[in-house]
Amino acid sequence: MVSVDSLLHSGYHHPVLRPWQAERMPSKAALMYPIFITDERDALIPIPSMPNQCRIGVARLEAFLAPLVAKGLRAVMLFGVPSESAKDALGTAADDPQGPVIQAIGVIKAAFPALLVSCDVCLCEYTSHGHCGHLNPDNTIDNAASVRRLAEVAVSYARAGADNVAPSDMMDGRMRAIKQGLVDAGLSDRVSLMAYSAKFASALYGPFRDAACSGARFGDRSAYQLPPASRGLGRRAIERDVREGADIILIKPASFYMDVIRDAKEIAPNHPVAAYQVSGEYAMLHHAASAGVFDLKTAVLENITGLHRAGCSLILTYFTPELLDWLE
Ligand code: PBG
Ligand code: ZN
Repeated sequence: MVSVDSLLHSGYHHPVLRPWQAERMPSKAALMYPIFITDERDALIPIPSMPNQCRIGVARLEAFLAPLVAKGLRAVMLFGVPSESAKDALGTAADDPQGPVIQAIGVIKAAFPALLVSCDVCLCEYTSHGHCGHLNPDNTIDNAASVRRLAEVAVSYARAGADNVAPSDMMDGRMRAIKQGLVDAGLSDRVSLMAYSAKFASALYGPFRDAACSGARFGDRSAYQLPPASRGLGRRAIERDVREGADIILIKPASFYMDVIRDAKEIAPNHPVAAYQVSGEYAMLHHAASAGVFDLKTAVLENITGLHRAGCSLILTYFTPELLDWLE
């Protein structure tokens, strides 16, 4: 005999009961789709390291997005992929008005005014050395100069019409500088700031660096991205970015760092928490499904559900197109 205080099945035996046991369930409204914009206007180039993902030229963007918007896509995150010749030591091309990101903002806002446009803010796609900021002569990071430049770039994206800016560089103090820049530009009431707060130095960014041609040409990012073993630094970065004015707290990668997602929800219960299921997680799920390990749809939905259970209310995922069908 099972005693009365052991009974759990009664609470979820019926399918209608089960979603009531969740704080949050996967939904289309909780998705943001990261896309790569190339400066070749007419291109639509498959990315070998990321199955089904393409670098998209600005002239192809409206046709690319239209079916997704029709299925309920509500938010995109833009990454620029400039040609090698546009790169320099300072990342000057990051906010080139003719560059891929600023051009894409205009196209998307004209075609889909209701779609939320978020821009990743970083310099690694635009620097010749591939690091996320400016360098000192000894090749260490010049944090102050980097923060000044990142704030400039974020404000340029905001001026061009971005609804949200999301700095992924991991310099110290950039949230405050960007927020202040938005205030000074008179844009702070219509542009939100999503902080890549706890972004760890991860093996899982490999496919992205191929996609965006943004790998560091020497050294690595360990002096600015967080050490994977450190829960404490994750917590401190979240606390700091809340203090500095972040509107949304993002954790990245997602599935190897679910404890950090839970920490973020506890430290910042009044902020939305976002999880970025990064390129390596995306590729792993695809390759595992191809190898017969599991059914892709079942595994991805379980993964997304787990991220929500950990505490996030928003997920950045390259599976967004599939999820827009699966969550029908
Ligand atoms: C650039 C940036 C990276 C990602 C998002 N922004 C790569 C990196 O830090 O090297 C990773 C996204 C992904 O792997 O999907 N700062
Ligand atoms: Zn970067």
